Amino acid sequence: MGRVAAKACVVTGAGSGIGRAIAQRLALEGGKVVCVDINPTAVAETVAGIQAAGGIAAAVTADVSNSVAVDGFIRQCVELYDRIDILVNNAGVNLPGIFHEVSNDEIDRTLNINVKGYMYGSRAAIPHMLRQQAGSIVNISSVNGLVAEPFLSVYAASKGAIVMLTKGIALDYAKQGIRCNCICPGWVDTPINYAHAEMMGGLDKIYAEIDRFQPIGRPGEPSEIANLALFLASDEASFLTGSIIAADGGMTAQ
Ligand SMILES: NC(=O)c1ccc[n+]([C@@H]2O[C@H](COP(=O)([O-])OP(=O)(O)OC[C@H]3O[C@@H](n4cnc5c(N)ncnc54)[C@H](O)[C@@H]3O)[C@@H](O)[C@H]2O)c1
Repeated sequence: MGRVAAKACVVTGAGSGIGRAIAQRLALEGGKVVCVDINPTAVAETVAGIQAAGGIAAAVTADVSNSVAVDGFIRQCVELYDRIDILVNNAGVNLPGIFHEVSNDEIDRTLNINVKGYMYGSRAAIPHMLRQQAGSIVNISSVNGLVAEPFLSVYAASKGAIVMLTKGIALDYAKQGIRCNCICPGWVDTPINYAHAEMMGGLDKIYAEIDRFQPIGRPGEPSEIANLALFLASDEASFLTGSIIAADGGMTAQ
């Protein structure tokens, strides 16, 4: 038996990086996973990989900043698997820039995807979780929800909002079997960082000097975030709600 055996899961941003690793890990541990991404090819690849390994998964192409689409994929999970036990809000963008030059479009996209997308997902899932009197929501924030960095003001604001959204949802449903927790990853090796890395002198330079900001001295792997997401999603974390956990190679210990 897996650690989330037979649980119905939704993972957003499952076409790449951390979301793909979480979807794979939940499926490996017996979860039935609705994989959501705005990129149809990428999410189809994730699902094909899970199915090839003997897991259960379905691909959905959707934009998490569209509340109608979000209602649709949560409903699809309930139609496919009769319930929704686990929601991982993970889809995100990082559009770096010095603050006074940030465009309206960049502000809107960042907040619509990184903040409203998480609100829409949770709002759609919670009525089903209330009916079940059980459910686990895992929000992927960032160390930038806890500490700022140059060129990331809007991203950091969006990730800080997720820290408080997590606490608020945790309090609203603490007595009804619904837990909501948050992971704040440090620098993990995925494409979301490439634009920011370019502004900071390039990925090679960042990785050569990484122990200056990430004491463990290397980037994280998506699978290392997935390990924690699996734990928080599972019943093993039954006493955790409203917890904000950094998985950051020591970055915020400094
Ligand atoms: N990689 C890191 O260092 C790091 C650190 C801290 C937090 N995070 C957070 O982890 C999460 C996952 O990021 P990642 O590193 O795996 O990046 P990634 O770029 O590899 O993956 C992000 C995925 O989200 C999808 N996506 C983007 N906009 C979407 C939308 N509107 N609707 C649906 N899907 C959409 C993309 O297509 C992509 O597949 C993000 O919320 C990010 O902010 C990442």
